[in-house]
Amino acid sequence: MWFSQIFLAAAIVVPTIATKTPKCTPFPSSMIEYSSGFKQPKPPLVQPEFTTNFVQHKWDETLSHIMTGYIDNSPAKGLVRVNEAYDDAPASSIFNYANVTKDGLVDNLMTIYNGTKPYVWQGYVNSNYPIFEKDFLVKNEAVFGGLVTRKFTDGNVASWDIMYQGAIPVTIYVNTCNEIVGYDYFSPGRRTRVVTDFFNIQIS
Ligand SMILES: *[C@@H]1O[C@H](CO)[C@@H](O)[C@H](O)[C@H]1NC(C)=O
Ligand SMILES: *[C@@H]1O[C@H](CO)[C@@H](O)[C@H](O)[C@H]1NC(C)=O
Repeated sequence: MWFSQIFLAAAIVVPTIATKTPKCTPFPSSMIEYSSGFKQPKPPLVQPEFTTNFVQHKWDETLSHIMTGYIDNSPAKGLVRVNEAYDDAPASSIFNYANVTKDGLVDNLMTIYNGTKPYVWQGYVNSNYPIFEKDFLVKNEAVFGGLVTRKFTDGNVASWDIMYQGAIPVTIYVNTCNEIVGYDYFSPGRRTRVVTDFFNIQIS
């Protein structure tokens, strides 16, 4: 699993397209597919500090895992904190993006409340939970993928596609307030599909 590298290795910064500050504006007609006025939009800056409920479904030929929980995304602190229902026990996972390896593995402190004493583990992992910085789409040179609907968001959201090392396609969904409302990816290694939806998003 190389997912975390997607978000860490893209060091190329493209400052000329970081023009918009996050605010709520309806999608213009230039973003509507098959419209005569269509013009490929530039990726927006996104809201980087937020907490949200989420549901994530991961599947491949051998497994189907659906988990739900709460995410705290804070690039200011360098942390993503995930509280989740894991199997038959609640778990808490802290991803410290201030402590990553050259290969993009992230320091992870995981606590599972599955016994009379919590089970605690720390080590480097490939994170399923990226850290979304303000310029996340810009620095990954995201390509507009069209307006789409998502389960827990009213109306259309913009989809933005990025590719990691020409190998892992990831789509990030962004609403009219430049809030990320979910992300999907496909990992060809194990032919794994992962879909993630956010709801009850609180910008801090
Ligand atoms: C809790 O989960 C960990 C990790 O899967 C496992 O090693 C440990 O044995 C579990 N503890 C109990 C009491 O089931
Ligand atoms: C960095 O992460 C590794 C792996 O989890 C951990 O062993 C180490 O203590 C961490 N270092 C710091 C300074 O947090």
